[in-house]
Amino acid sequence: MSEIIVPSPADFHVHLRQGKMATLVTPHVRNGGFSLAYVMPNLKPPVTTTAQALAYKAELESIDSSVEYLMTLYLSPDLTPEEVVKAKEAGIAGVKSYPRGVTTNSDGGIESYEMYYPVFEAMQRVDMVLNLHGEVPSDAKTNTHILNAEPKFLTHLHALHKAFPRLRIVLEHATTRAAVDAVKACGPTVACTITAHHLELTVDDWAGQSFNFCKPVAKYPDDREALRQVIRDGHPRFFLGSDSAPHPVHSKSTSTPTQGCAAGIYTSPILLPLVAHLLESFDALDKLEGFVSTFGRCFYRRELSAENTSNVVLRKIDGHVVEGKYGADEESVVPFWAGKEINWKIVT
Ligand code: NCD
Ligand code: DOR
Ligand code: ZN
Ligand code: ZN
Repeated sequence: MSEIIVPSPADFHVHLRQGKMATLVTPHVRNGGFSLAYVMPNLKPPVTTTAQALAYKAELESIDSSVEYLMTLYLSPDLTPEEVVKAKEAGIAGVKSYPRGVTTNSDGGIESYEMYYPVFEAMQRVDMVLNLHGEVPSDAKTNTHILNAEPKFLTHLHALHKAFPRLRIVLEHATTRAAVDAVKACGPTVACTITAHHLELTVDDWAGQSFNFCKPVAKYPDDREALRQVIRDGHPRFFLGSDSAPHPVHSKSTSTPTQGCAAGIYTSPILLPLVAHLLESFDALDKLEGFVSTFGRCFYRRELSAENTSNVVLRKIDGHVVEGKYGADEESVVPFWAGKEINWKIVT
């Protein structure tokens, strides 16, 4: 019998939503083997203030108090350096920047983060993390589209790191060899999350398959190989952020000439067994603990002590078939890997 013990797995990028959907998906963090969730702020309306983030945290804790929630703010022109200081004092861990937060200079089509420099300066000073959704917006004039949006973003990563060398930055959900190389080339203050699904999917898997569609889209086999290799290497600045992003089944499975399907892949309920299964498939199972626990915790300064460690035991099994859906009716969500087998299960 083969077993692996993983100390307090941490998911450093997850969407837990609000209301009924939050009630359905939040307990899946623990069910999927995780004791820490780094929670994204893209609610409706987005979480832009300390007060909102604390209220959201209380909502999540009332659903499942067994998980530690690290909260984030959504970067917008309303975020002030004063609010950054307040957020830090309230224990908020980071600020997430989405592509639409980038201002476009209409002359040259050049995006700039400079309007946010006073905010980044304050974040660097108080030591908050900047989480980057590393894609530039599509733009036909510059041949910018979903397949090159991430490589084109990397100049912004380098510029930000150069301007704020002590600011801790995470390039979220990397999907390309170019992104892996760019993060490697930066100093110790720059890290990178990798999702489970991007370790498996390539463009062929989402073209025509809406349940595999997410942003950033999965890229080419060579890109996937770069993600796998940096995990095999045990590089400590690359760690798991699932980007588990539930959408009701009707918004994934139906599309019309005017309305495409929602972007997002749901992995929370099966996350730790899935990551073990995938790492084993490309000979990186010995890096599981670093990838899902130690590396991210170290970067975020959430190291484990004897008192706060809860071990999760994974057991090798013959093949467990993943549920077809979670929840009922309007709110049901279809997980990644639905109907397929996973060779690991959580036993404690
Ligand atoms: C949206 C965004 O850009 O903020 N996420 C995405 O890229 N699909 C989510 C939102 O609209 O809040
Ligand atoms: O696929 C995605 N889904 N990418 C994102 O950046 C957002 C997420 C969501 O919130 O659904
Ligand atoms: Zn993102
Ligand atoms: Zn996300």
